[in-house]
Amino acid sequence: MGTNTARIEMVTSVTSPDDFLTAAFEAPCRSLVLPCDLDALADELGAPDAPDFVWTKIAGIDDPAFGPLTSMGFRIAVEEITYERPGDAAASAPSNGHDFTVHKLTPTSTAQASAIADEVGGLAARNMTTSRFHQDPLVPDDIAAEIKKRWAMNFFIGGRGEEMYVASAADDRVVGFNQVLVRPDCKVIDLICTADDHRRRGVARAIVAAMFEPGIKTRVGSQANNEAADEFYKSLDFEPVGRALCLHWHKGARI
Ligand SMILES: CC(C)(COP(=O)(O)OP(=O)(O)OC[C@H]1O[C@@H](n2cnc3c(N)ncnc32)[C@H](O)[C@@H]1OP(=O)(O)O)[C@@H](O)C(=O)NCCC(=O)NCCS
Repeated sequence: MGTNTARIEMVTSVTSPDDFLTAAFEAPCRSLVLPCDLDALADELGAPDAPDFVWTKIAGIDDPAFGPLTSMGFRIAVEEITYERPGDAAASAPSNGHDFTVHKLTPTSTAQASAIADEVGGLAARNMTTSRFHQDPLVPDDIAAEIKKRWAMNFFIGGRGEEMYVASAADDRVVGFNQVLVRPDCKVIDLICTADDHRRRGVARAIVAAMFEPGIKTRVGSQANNEAADEFYKSLDFEPVGRALCLHWHKGARI
């Protein structure tokens, strides 16, 4: 009896599944970490079973991968800026005359807070209009809104974030939230917004100041086109420390 010597070829994907976006898009989405084997990536994106959407981050257009990636159909979705506030920054002056109150939620306290999860999700869906998904003309607005809604509501099922600071108006309506990641070396503002009818009343200042801890650095990523956020972070002693481009690839798109 002859020996079956069929060769098993291991095909390793260059990209990785993005389960969060796959659920929101209801289509296969993947992410890409650079540097990578660009020939293998081209094969993957040209295959019949290519994903619908791939995203990656690159330092800038000087990166040698930028040309090949754009040839494959990647397009700049948004330029991102990372800001940091040192742990020894002076405490910000408390704002007076608030017509709102700030509450801190943790994932273990979310059982009591679940009633506000929908409100937080609604705020996220309506207010994050400078996000990379909103800026991408190939992502429908309702999906861009759904992504941000799920992102915020993930907190209430223990899926993302260690702390959330919520501002409530006198009638208990949620008028702002700050979803926070706690990392070993810093705290990160993961998602933040103020209801548009409560802007410039110190809501964001209060929900960010509430997360500060002496000696702990604070970090946040924003978008270069978000002038309000730029002014806001600088007003709280954050400084820009890095820039990156976020690139999106859509199956079949060559715009
Ligand atoms: C950025 C944002 C969170 C600021 O919220 P806010 O509650 O209006 O901010 P505050 O009232 O606490 O502002 C504090 C300070 O930030 C600065 N600031 C805030 N918004 C500003 C704006 N639109 N233009 C210029 N400066 C601004 C000011 O110095 C302000 O102090 P002042 O009002 O006394 O002058 C809000 O515009 C927002 O929700 N935007 C949409 C979502 C978003 O972009 N989130 C950030 C993504 S990284």
